[in-house]
Amino acid sequence: MAVLITGGAGYIGSHTCVELLEAGEKIVVMDNLSNSSHNSIDAIKKITARDFPFYEADILDSDALDRIFSENGIDSVIHFAGLKSVAESVREPLKYHRNNVIGTQTLCEAMLRHNCKTIVFSSSATVYGVPEKVPVTEDCQTAPTNPYGKTKLEAEEILRRLHDEDIEWKIAVLRYFNPIGAHASGLIGEKPTGIPNNLMPYVCLVTAGKLDEVRVFGNDYPTPDGTGVRDYVHISDLAKAHLCAMRKLREGTDFGVWNIGTGKGYSVLEIIKAFERVNKIAVPYSIAERRDGDVAECYADPSKAYRELGWKAEKSIDEMCADCWNYSKNNKLF
Ligand code: NAD
Ligand code: UFG
Repeated sequence: MAVLITGGAGYIGSHTCVELLEAGEKIVVMDNLSNSSHNSIDAIKKITARDFPFYEADILDSDALDRIFSENGIDSVIHFAGLKSVAESVREPLKYHRNNVIGTQTLCEAMLRHNCKTIVFSSSATVYGVPEKVPVTEDCQTAPTNPYGKTKLEAEEILRRLHDEDIEWKIAVLRYFNPIGAHASGLIGEKPTGIPNNLMPYVCLVTAGKLDEVRVFGNDYPTPDGTGVRDYVHISDLAKAHLCAMRKLREGTDFGVWNIGTGKGYSVLEIIKAFERVNKIAVPYSIAERRDGDVAECYADPSKAYRELGWKAEKSIDEMCADCWNYSKNNKLF
């Protein structure tokens, strides 16, 4: 039997494909390539020396889903396909609802038609909104503050309802904190389109001389150095969490929500300094106004994932910085 990976050509999906293949799993990948390309499929095959079926298809296309399920013995799904820009979701909330919420529903309906009831879902720490406390535990209240976050919570709700009505469903909801880094090979990583919103891709473009300087959004937060604190987790560690979650569901767990982070927060200035030290390169920056919607601190309590999934982040912030820069150079992102 095989695991269907939706959005498997994307940043997190491609790294998860590598982890699954290296663990001996059989996979089938589908992606509409709206934010990725065939290159990552080729790269996954190169890294792992394994082959697998790839379908260029949309999760909103029921006929395509039926074909994929009919042509492959699929018994479980890892669902990454989705849109992820907070800013774009504010401009185009209905596009985000259609893709992320209706997309998840369409996928689940196809799963039901093909009697496949096991799914690992990509959720986000953004569902917590302004965290009621840090470190954030899974029972903290969910109150997303942007349309993107709301679509993630609605998709979680669809899954929760499916499970409430039919306990044959086995569902793992993973709430990621801030994934950064790239595969050690430098062949897959995060390829930003346009000017990035996220810190690490921005740092890489500045370092490469493509942008003038990093604007540090606020240095007057109630944090040790005044800049925003986040929980950065290496993409390969994050990818392994999906394998652990899948194993947990196979062991019989029927529903769970797990934070996937390191449990340690780093400030913007700490990230810039680490990047400079590890890669021996200057990162020009200046202090700018706070960015609307940002919170001072957000980092996970990941102990539930350790206790229940046996998952723990292993890679350091230095490895994250080194791998980001290695990927950027290797792929001439600038
Ligand atoms: P990504 O854009 O690199 O990957 C998503 C993939 O899904 C892309 O390859 C895209 O082409 C594909 N896709 C989008 N809509 C599709 C559709 N309707 N049908 C088929 N394919 C479709 O993003 P990522 O960073 O790898 O994120 C993967 C998932 O994790 C997303 O659901 C995202 O919301 C979630 N997530 C990401 C982060 C992050 O910081 N990267 C944090 C928390 C949660
Ligand atoms: N930052 C800067 N300058 C920049 C970009 C970011 O100072 O140019 C700061 C931010 O203010 C924040 C930190 O760097 O303090 C991290 O910002 P990111 O944009 O990289 O990440 P966020 O935590 O704001 O958001 C990310 C994803 C969201 C997701 C959230 C929680 O972009 O989609 O993590 O998972 F919801």
